[in-house]
Amino acid sequence: MVKKPTRPAAGPDNEERPLKTLERVLSKAGLGSRVEARRWVHARRVKVNGEVIENPDHWIDLELDEVRFDDTLLEARERMYVLLYKPKGYLTTYKDPEGRPTVYDLVGDIGTFLSPVGRLDFDTSGLLLMTNDNGFAERVTNPASHVAKTYLVKASTVLTDAQLDQLRHGIDLSDGPTRPATVTRLRDSEKYTHVEITLTEGRNRQVRRMVEALGSHVLKLVRVKIGSIAIGALSIGKWRLLTADEVAALTGPGTPASRASAG
Ligand code: URA
Repeated sequence: MVKKPTRPAAGPDNEERPLKTLERVLSKAGLGSRVEARRWVHARRVKVNGEVIENPDHWIDLELDEVRFDDTLLEARERMYVLLYKPKGYLTTYKDPEGRPTVYDLVGDIGTFLSPVGRLDFDTSGLLLMTNDNGFAERVTNPASHVAKTYLVKASTVLTDAQLDQLRHGIDLSDGPTRPATVTRLRDSEKYTHVEITLTEGRNRQVRRMVEALGSHVLKLVRVKIGSIAIGALSIGKWRLLTADEVAALTGPGTPASRASAG
């Protein structure tokens, strides 16, 4: 039976993403032509998740399915790591039922399906990583990894030193107390405070909820850094590839992700 050509993604909002046929996966891996690929499948030389598949049009999700040719794992996709400067007004999802712009409109077709590494709210701008490397995404988003994320925040009120201390030491949110954060006052105006906040966790709308718990709210939120990777001089709405060193810095030496990108 031919599977449905989309499958819910493991990522945020369970958005759907496109799949590729087995024939295309084999030929894209650089093994040979599509005609040859079909022949190999019919010759029972190809396994998907340990099972011989004889249908070249079988749908494959490269993020989830393991494809082997003559029992050798197919590294079908080149691993890609994109750093996007997301503008506000874009969703971090693949499709929006309301037709609002998404980050995929900015990245365009770059030959592989990239998933956002974590998410940014519609109204948040700044650094968003996108990759086809699940291990990398898991490493960066797993709370146990404690990867730091740094935000510039404009609060709707002038925040006192005591309030900044609350942000630093932890705030009781509905999903539990926040971890200690690094908070630096950047400047105050008559009505607003600008702070830089570095968190080592990434809960849903966390910065906004922390500021709201102080009786203020966020007027502007920009993520400027993840780990040691800064958004730098990149223009808003533009993207670039991470360097191998940047990938390694986020994953630690010797992990599959850092080896792949360094190769
Ligand atoms: N915290 C938030 O509140 N929103 C974001 O988009 C990111 C972090």
